[in-house]
Amino acid sequence: MIISISGTPGVGKTTIARILAKRLGYEYVSLKDFALRHGIGEMVEELEIDVEKLVKATKREFEDRNVVFDGHLSHLIPSDLVIILRLHPRIIGERLLRREYSKKKVSENVEAELVDVCLIEAIENNENIIEVDTTDKTPEEVVGEILKLMKAGVKRRIGIVDWSEVYDDVIPYLDLGGE
Ligand SMILES: Nc1ncnc2c1ncn2[C@@H]1O[C@H](COP(=O)(O)OP(=O)(O)OP(=O)(O)O)[C@@H](O)[C@H]1O
Ligand SMILES: [Mg+2]
Repeated sequence: MIISISGTPGVGKTTIARILAKRLGYEYVSLKDFALRHGIGEMVEELEIDVEKLVKATKREFEDRNVVFDGHLSHLIPSDLVIILRLHPRIIGERLLRREYSKKKVSENVEAELVDVCLIEAIENNENIIEVDTTDKTPEEVVGEILKLMKAGVKRRIGIVDWSEVYDDVIPYLDLGGE
């Protein structure tokens, strides 16, 4: 079984994927490390991954294995289940600022969370998608929620957040062309 954990940068993918893999006894695989190991993608300003090559290489290597993939492109990889982690975009902004991302990059990612970019891409690629709102939950609580849904046989649960309701809270993180 292949489970992919995706979502906006900073949402908590690595944290959740590691705990989930441990709880399930599955392999944890960082897609970024896998791509680097296999020479997929190149460093332009940042690492740009060739998704088509990544799909082929992961299929070859992991087809019959039990894996949890971690990565913001993992929803584009053929998976039995895609988990899209969601987080109040203001907290995404706070986390990325703490990492000293540029204002432009913070804004791009806050906006991506605000308008559901990963979810929409996942829907275009996969049937089995579970969205989890991680806001105000500990990593253990998030993993518990995922395991509970899996146990109950839930294969699709989407449309659980609407960040347009909190748009005003995130204006400080958006690069709206001022200054
Ligand atoms: N549920 C949570 N509650 C509080 N803090 C969290 C939670 N999940 C993750 N974090 C913290 O948020 C930060 C980002 O988490 P993490 O590195 O797992 O995100 P990521 O989605 O893998 O990021 P990237 O896209 O850059 O790989 C870390 O400092 C992590 O400890
Ligand atoms: Mg990560």
